[in-house]
Amino acid sequence: MTKEFILALDQGTTSSRAILFNKKGQIENVAQKEFTQIYPKSGWVEHDAQEIWSSQLAVLTEVIAKAKIKLPQIKGIGITNQRETTIVWNRKTGEPIYNAIVWQDRRTAEYCKQLADKGLDKKLQEKTGLLIDAYFSASKINWILTHVRGARKLADKGELAFGTVDSWLVYNLTNGEKHITDVSNASRTLLFNIHTLSWDEELLTLFDIPKSMLPDVCSSSEVYGETSTELGSKPIPIAGIAGDQQAALFGQLCTQKGMVKNTYGTGCFLLMNIGKKPVISTNKLVTTVAWKIGSEVNYALEGSIFIGGAVVQWLRDELGIIKKSSDVERLATQVDNSNGVYLVPAFSGLGAPHWNPQARGTLLGLSRGSNDAHIARAALESIAYQTYDILKAMEIDAKSKIKELRVDGGATQNQFLMQFQANILQTNVIRPAITETTAMGAAFLAGLAVGFWKNREELQALWKEEKTFMADKKKKHKVEIQEWKRATETVKYWANY
Ligand code: G3P
Repeated sequence: MTKEFILALDQGTTSSRAILFNKKGQIENVAQKEFTQIYPKSGWVEHDAQEIWSSQLAVLTEVIAKAKIKLPQIKGIGITNQRETTIVWNRKTGEPIYNAIVWQDRRTAEYCKQLADKGLDKKLQEKTGLLIDAYFSASKINWILTHVRGARKLADKGELAFGTVDSWLVYNLTNGEKHITDVSNASRTLLFNIHTLSWDEELLTLFDIPKSMLPDVCSSSEVYGETSTELGSKPIPIAGIAGDQQAALFGQLCTQKGMVKNTYGTGCFLLMNIGKKPVISTNKLVTTVAWKIGSEVNYALEGSIFIGGAVVQWLRDELGIIKKSSDVERLATQVDNSNGVYLVPAFSGLGAPHWNPQARGTLLGLSRGSNDAHIARAALESIAYQTYDILKAMEIDAKSKIKELRVDGGATQNQFLMQFQANILQTNVIRPAITETTAMGAAFLAGLAVGFWKNREELQALWKEEKTFMADKKKKHKVEIQEWKRATETVKYWANY
């Protein structure tokens, strides 16, 4: 019998990937391509939107060639993507009118501060679940309309289209036929009302954005359209879309209220499924739409850590105390503890739950005997402590204690970090067999829509645990957690002084 597959397109911040999944949820083949990061000014981050598309198309073609399969064997495509990144293109030509402004870009920070100073934050949070911040798409669209010559006029004539990366990929995959997004991506724009699940007129007026620019909002699992025949003789249904962190939550099968996942990448993204009703955070977390399948919507609380695994790159590239990232575990475990050393890696400010953009990285508690091993250990521990801070805030907002933490991302291979994480949380940390959970989530969403997998019960059987790090009841590290708190307070005090 000919084998059948679902193809996940995972368009991330630094690379485009295409991953083929078989019926058992196993990876059949992968292709990956990095693309250019553009830093025009300090705090600005852009991508060439055409390169996003060409790199994605290249890996799509490559993975099919590598797997030696024919197009009809692919039953559906699921898309997952870096979120918030903003692309505006001309509907007539299909050409972007400016580079994609990446989620990390801070150029609109002052504009957002002015809105927050007007006391609009509470209202926006109630409607969108988000905080007023340059991170989200709305202020980036406003910037393009204000600063790109002729953009405002074209927008007023209805000739411009806005999309997050998912929209841009679907637009190109369908040769300009579909201009859509899904609820999870729409909920990262600051323009989307997460209660009514529609674009909010009042917010569009506030950010001065014509409604005609916006994509139609769809669910996360349905057949939206087919790939254009220009891409290959046999059209493939495009059947799943979710922002990468929501896709990872689904890929981890955190489908029940109270389930939590943490992705340990350059930064860390923690999401807790909060069920069918949104909970607005009182602890500076954001509320986001996790996915919509059929008529059922799931919401999530989210906290982002700006520097997670990147702290290890810093040890390697700037301090030079390790040669490769994987050396960090050996160095950190040369000592039994950090001997009072704490590293708060606020290199680009502190994210949730502090949201302090002025904060900067700080090393505290050095003594005459402190050495590179203590610093390496403090660096790894800082990833776990930051996760702890967010999870505690989530538990308060959700009014429930987490039962387990499902993890994915590169740093989950670090045994010391995972065990330390379990100990300080006093919660078991579970690493699945397939840690490509982002792509898996997109594949699952597409597979459900085209009947490749029947239902969630069938998916449940595909998710397998590889290792559980059991919380050691004798190692709660209560004193260290208190000291970490003092360390972050010191960093914030210094930033605001
Ligand atoms: O919100 C930004 C996030 O979606 C980016 O994820 O994995 O591309 O760094 P990643």
